[in-house]
Amino acid sequence: MKIAIYPGSFDPITSGHLNIIKRAADIFDKLIVCVMVNSTKSPMFSREERVDLIRRSIGELSNVEVDSSDGLLADYARRKGSCVIVKGLRAGSDFENEFQMALINHKINPDLDTMFLTAEHQYTYLSSSTVKELGNYDVDLSDFLPEPIIPIFKQRIADIRKKGENKK
Ligand code: PNS
Repeated sequence: MKIAIYPGSFDPITSGHLNIIKRAADIFDKLIVCVMVNSTKSPMFSREERVDLIRRSIGELSNVEVDSSDGLLADYARRKGSCVIVKGLRAGSDFENEFQMALINHKINPDLDTMFLTAEHQYTYLSSSTVKELGNYDVDLSDFLPEPIIPIFKQRIADIRKKGENKK
């Protein structure tokens, strides 16, 4: 059975991530979407919340599992019996960082390869960070976030704003 891991911060999952999940699930026997720690980012949602948002977004995809880990991706893949990492590539700007991560993961776990799926054109500009920025304004988010998580995302933005106002 070919098992692939799709790792990321998913803070929150976007429509671009969901598109990669659906396409990778068509290619592999099993896909594990794993919420992991990116030490350069301070997430808006906890790891458990991000797992929940992904589960709500994917609906009925029978060969997709959602998990989280605070460990090393290369070790996680070994534990799960996977030799493939799937990543989405949006623009050239993603490439350098992704290339470096792929090489490091392969160095730590030589059985592990990284495969890139190119983002579909309507998602090339989309990232969790841009969605978080847009969340501060009155913008229709239905092209950017999976429908089931939009109210939860908006509520979090409102809660953060309220907290900020109470501090003033
Ligand atoms: O969505 P992101 O933030 O680009 O995902 C990056 C992520 C979480 C996949 C990466 O930071 C990661 O693999 N974290 C787990 C810890 C690890 O293995 N670090 C070494 C990777 S070079």
